[in-house]
Amino acid sequence: MQTTEIKTATGKHSKIFTGVDFTRFQNCLSAHRVVIIIDENVYKLYPFFKNFDCIKIRANEKNKTLETVKNIISQLIELQADRTTFIAGIGGGITCDIAGFSASVYMRGLRFGFVATSLLSQVDASIGGKNGVNFDGFKNMIGTFNQPEFVICDTNMLATLPQNEFIGGMSEIVKIALIKDSEMFDSIEYNTDAILKRDKKILQELIEKSIRHKADIVRNDEFEKGERRSLNFGHTLAHAIERNSDISHGFAVGTGIMFAAKISKHFDLISTGNVVRIKNLLSNLGLPLHTDIDGEILFKTIIADKKKNDDEINFVLIREIGKSLEKNIKINDLKSLIASFK
Ligand SMILES: NC(=O)c1ccc[n+]([C@@H]2O[C@H](COP(=O)([O-])OP(=O)(O)OC[C@H]3O[C@@H](n4cnc5c(N)ncnc54)[C@H](O)[C@@H]3O)[C@@H](O)[C@H]2O)c1
Repeated sequence: MQTTEIKTATGKHSKIFTGVDFTRFQNCLSAHRVVIIIDENVYKLYPFFKNFDCIKIRANEKNKTLETVKNIISQLIELQADRTTFIAGIGGGITCDIAGFSASVYMRGLRFGFVATSLLSQVDASIGGKNGVNFDGFKNMIGTFNQPEFVICDTNMLATLPQNEFIGGMSEIVKIALIKDSEMFDSIEYNTDAILKRDKKILQELIEKSIRHKADIVRNDEFEKGERRSLNFGHTLAHAIERNSDISHGFAVGTGIMFAAKISKHFDLISTGNVVRIKNLLSNLGLPLHTDIDGEILFKTIIADKKKNDDEINFVLIREIGKSLEKNIKINDLKSLIASFK
């Protein structure tokens, strides 16, 4: 078992457990009453959770909205949840985002924790205290920074995860490797086949490394004023893809990473050889390298999104494998870079 702790400058404390059975979440509850907000697919697959008061949600981007939060709040009232109630979010990134946000606003905030059940949520979404929902199609427009007291990552739960969701989760692992850890990137390259067969030992190592890297970043920069922005590598284009299609977050991030790698090459930050390595790795993992969405539409979505800053867009790039940097890119340059992204 690995325990990673995040203690932030604002006194928040979050513990992330890996290599533990999910039922252990009961040991983490010090409140006498718990209400579970759970992905309905996970609820069906893991009957154990039927023993608790459960609010079930359908996890998809279209439901990651204030309307869903409103429904949850109505059910919390019906269940007579009060300020002593503990909220446990059980599911993938969508469920953790919604549960964390609902817990943060209900009665001005209840204590909460997560059992992260998808690969993407174990390595990224459940860690670090960003909770939120989409608004009017814009990703994560409304949200809070509020740390879960615990996150349980039981790799055995990944056995029931559909292969496309598993592959989507790999995009965030590749992202972490690209911005933080070149050896981790080498290891994903070397072990691609075993990873796709879900080799437990290799997966466990990758999950633990991803969590450690993300925790290091969050500890230093809880509110995303600096280093934490590096975690948006690949996400500017990804969010535009998600807004204009039904492509999942993980797959959109795969394409976004390819785009960010190509821009890094455009500014001579990385070599052609490294772009080829990134392309081959994403492709070998089964992640999409391109998008069919019209470049003009993607461009307009990006400039309407939250990262807009006058006539420049702040973009996270890499200057070598394992090292990120931020660069302001002129809007017109971005337009032609998107147009030439095939
Ligand atoms: N808060 C953050 O810091 C952060 C970071 C990265 C991503 N995110 C968000 O995370 C979301 C994506 O997360 P996701 O990919 O986990 O999506 P998700 O929550 O929709 O889960 C993906 C699918 O897998 C199913 N599933 C989950 N666990 C399962 C299991 N153990 N067995 C069988 N099926 C299972 C779900 O029902 C769903 O259909 C996006 O909305 C993204 O914006 C948030």
